[in-house]
Amino acid sequence: MKTRIPVTDLQLGMFIHKLGGSWLKHPFLRGSFLLTDTRDLMAIRECGIQDVWIDPSQGQVVDTRSRLAADAQAPSPPTTPEPDTASRPSGEMTEGTASSTRSSPGPTSITQEIERAKRICLSAKSQVKDMLQAARLGKAIDAGTTQLLVREIAASVERQPVALLSVARLKTHDDYTYMHSVAVCALMIAMARQLGFDDERTRLAGVGGLMHDLGKAAMPLDVLNKPGRLTDAEFSVMRSHTVAGANMLRSSGADSTVVDIALHHHEKIDGTGYPHKLPGARISELARMGAICDVYDAVTSQRAYKEAWNPAEAMRQMAKWEGHFDKQLFSAFVKSVGIYPVGSLVRLASQRLAIVLAPGAESLLTPVVRVFFSLRSEEQIPVQTIDLAAPNATDRIVGPEDPSKWGFPGLEDLWLK
Ligand SMILES: [Fe+2]
Repeated sequence: MKTRIPVTDLQLGMFIHKLGGSWLKHPFLRGSFLLTDTRDLMAIRECGIQDVWIDPSQGQVVDTRSRLAADAQAPSPPTTPEPDTASRPSGEMTEGTASSTRSSPGPTSITQEIERAKRICLSAKSQVKDMLQAARLGKAIDAGTTQLLVREIAASVERQPVALLSVARLKTHDDYTYMHSVAVCALMIAMARQLGFDDERTRLAGVGGLMHDLGKAAMPLDVLNKPGRLTDAEFSVMRSHTVAGANMLRSSGADSTVVDIALHHHEKIDGTGYPHKLPGARISELARMGAICDVYDAVTSQRAYKEAWNPAEAMRQMAKWEGHFDKQLFSAFVKSVGIYPVGSLVRLASQRLAIVLAPGAESLLTPVVRVFFSLRSEEQIPVQTIDLAAPNATDRIVGPEDPSKWGFPGLEDLWLK
């Protein structure tokens, strides 16, 4: 039988069934594990969790006080990190022990988080791929994997809201289906954060984003992978991914909110969406959020039949679409991602081109940018980073530029590296 105990009574050797308190605030990626490491014990005691559910049938208590005292006296163990972990920023995740499930709380620099986001995306991609392949074979969805992945993505968004969003936008044609799920998950969490949702609703938004296109696993592969525009008949088959996904989620025991996001993320405020042509008032807030995040990621991703839109241009265009999105939610979305999202190509008043490197601390209009090209001389210039919000900054953004018009090779390297 599971027992709830105050955190002060927690001891090494106990099997933690569930940590009380906020899932976003405690520093562990896994909720259940055998507590064997004094560092984990100290971390749980110090992170503000009040109580813990333990499973006495799976643990064996050891004398914590003597162990803690021994650890305090013992010299630090020699550290011989694996080659892969040696260069990781502090707090970077590895796999295996309970202590290694700790994620790094607190803000990090955007450069650090972009490095982390690259690794999270790589791992997330293969997990989503496995999940969709299992779903295609009719297997149930593994809720445990989903929760872990959403938590990992949420922790990254919490540390640096835009890093993972920007990395997940970059995807190849082959990656699209998997990375789109990861990107929409991250966008939903960023939006939920902007809207001040509580932890549980934020989690549901993330899971809903990750699962919104699960029904694509039930679509015929020749239609799903067709490298071009779909015919009307094929499009009508693809539209059924909403109902198929909802059915799969329902039978896997998913929360009704998650089912609703999968079912209604293609509805439009003016009632012309699918599958149910719901009027705006009958589309749930989370499904309306799903519609915004889904379209933004789709239009800013490179597809076989179209170039990716510049993120800043996508914001501008989507704002003009009448009847598609909830306007209030769209402005929350812009606040969470930025008018000039990281990675956008922009033209400055000084007749230079720049890439957006980080959001502005004070205003969405004054991000940190990296200039690299002069429009006057039509030549590359030495790369220079400028904080447009700095008191001595004299330059400003005039508007977004279409990268496909310029064809600069390796533009991503300017903000990714
Ligand atoms: Fe969809």
